[in-house]
Amino acid sequence: MAISTCVFDAYGTLFDVNAAARNLAEEDGLEGFAVVWQQVATHWRHKQLQYSWIRAITREHVDFWQITQDGLDWALDVTDQADPALRERLLGLYWTLPAYPEVPEMLARLKAGGLNTAILSNGSPRMLEGAVDSAGIGPHLDAVLSVEDEGIFKPDARIYEMVGRRFSAPKEEVLFVSSNGWDAASAASFGFKVLWVNRAGEPRDRLPGQPDFVATDLTSVPEFAGLTS
Ligand code: LAC
Repeated sequence: MAISTCVFDAYGTLFDVNAAARNLAEEDGLEGFAVVWQQVATHWRHKQLQYSWIRAITREHVDFWQITQDGLDWALDVTDQADPALRERLLGLYWTLPAYPEVPEMLARLKAGGLNTAILSNGSPRMLEGAVDSAGIGPHLDAVLSVEDEGIFKPDARIYEMVGRRFSAPKEEVLFVSSNGWDAASAASFGFKVLWVNRAGEPRDRLPGQPDFVATDLTSVPEFAGLTS
């Protein structure tokens, strides 16, 4: 069945989540932080995601902005960087994370080819609005779907079901694109066609679902979606 709808995960897929810590590490006067920024960024992301899964399992939902702050606090503690000013700067930068360079043209090609385009993300509506606006990609997107409408995080199937409701598209017509191996695997189990964007060269996740396609960046999404040029 031909693809009618391309749906993207946001953080790590369209937006570079490591940019906040990486950019701050380049500032004068933050030489101590510059030594550990990669550890901070990695711990921050891992804790943020762990908290999303645990809160989904225990039904103790708070929005993604809260667990983004909680994950950062853990990351700053474990790297001995706890400092209110540093915390505020990193959180501020999270609202304007850059999109990967290939994103605007790739989305424009999908729209020119007549496909529906959307984000489906754990992010809160306000966080997603901030990121989409700052990257200037709003005009290329038909919908920005946030888990907050369901009050539970991915990979709960209720989140993937939001796509069918919004676009009236059967699962087989949806190409779901994520750089998160667990998200790609779960979306494949759900029944979407899936492209895993494996920028970091990671091994495949050992989960039941497997992506249909693997790429190293987003440039070829239009071809995976069936567009020829
Ligand atoms: C998102 C997280 C999982 O955007 O990256 O949903």
